[in-house]
Amino acid sequence: MSSKTDDFATRVVRWQAQHGRNDLPWQNTRDPYRVWLSEIMLQQTQVATVKAYFARFLKKCPDVAALAAASQDEVLGLWSGLGYYSRARNLHRCAQDVMRLHGGAFPADAQTLATLPGIGPSTAAAIASLCFSERVAILDANVKRVVTRVRGFEGDVAVAANARALWDAASSLLPTPQRAEQDMARYTQGMMDLGAMVCTPRKPMCLHCPVQQDCIAFKNGNPEDFPVRSRKLKRSSQSIWLLWAQTRAGAVWLDRRPTPGVWAGLHCLPLFESEADLRNALPGRFQELLQCEPAFTHVLTHKDLHLHACRVQLAASNRLGEGRWVMPEEWPTLGLPAPVRKLLERG
Ligand code: ADE
Repeated sequence: MSSKTDDFATRVVRWQAQHGRNDLPWQNTRDPYRVWLSEIMLQQTQVATVKAYFARFLKKCPDVAALAAASQDEVLGLWSGLGYYSRARNLHRCAQDVMRLHGGAFPADAQTLATLPGIGPSTAAAIASLCFSERVAILDANVKRVVTRVRGFEGDVAVAANARALWDAASSLLPTPQRAEQDMARYTQGMMDLGAMVCTPRKPMCLHCPVQQDCIAFKNGNPEDFPVRSRKLKRSSQSIWLLWAQTRAGAVWLDRRPTPGVWAGLHCLPLFESEADLRNALPGRFQELLQCEPAFTHVLTHKDLHLHACRVQLAASNRLGEGRWVMPEEWPTLGLPAPVRKLLERG
């Protein structure tokens, strides 16, 4: 078949085979455990970072049974540094549900997969299409960009009511039912790769795009106008004071963050909403020795955190509420928020 008479999906599939990414560690397998794990890691983290974490994770937890049997601390420790720790908590719960409710095997269809913790509709579709060739559309941020441009989709994608229309648009582009068994996995990967490599947010490489001739935004010369986002995300900011108490031997006092809240479930320096609250938590005679450093900013999705670290040296006989003294050797095995880990490693 010549590329002129190919349909959209066939062009994507052919392009993926020739120009897409085909040697990532979670590819060339149909093992849903590996595909699921990589998809969760890739939700908010770059491919290059995920590669190292993925290998380390699989060494400790080679299958879903091993992950389900691990402790939450082990899982958070393996996740430490990837951020967005609700992903790790859901990952753990999901593994336990797969064991308990599905006899240790991942369900093979997107609808059932989406009932599991941490698996949204797009991730469910990714696993079902990559592992089981199910004919379902993914719609992560990269693919939304491809589909809105190809279809010239003018709806505001931040408005929930437009979501269904966009899924319908994505579904209308899928390989035909006759081609699904053969093509679905490569089609899904191809859509992700197009979004990441060609159909980029700025300066998309339309001249290298295999679906240029299908693309309304290309025809109109305005691909960068898609996706349309009229509702702006409102960002907020918050100041946090961290009590960085350390013994002469180098142990720091860590407690466990409550759920829900910032860094729920992670180990952390004791955290306060004001410097006064922090001072009040410290035995009176140590307050003069406290040294508060200038704030640094840690950017979360919806929020800028301004972090103030206040240092003091204490004898190991002191206690600061719930928590314990933890020596540096143990820090890497605990789930610590990334900015706290960096702070401690800097010393
Ligand atoms: N981002 C999300 N899923 C991905 C995948 N399978 N390959 C590369 N990047 C991705």
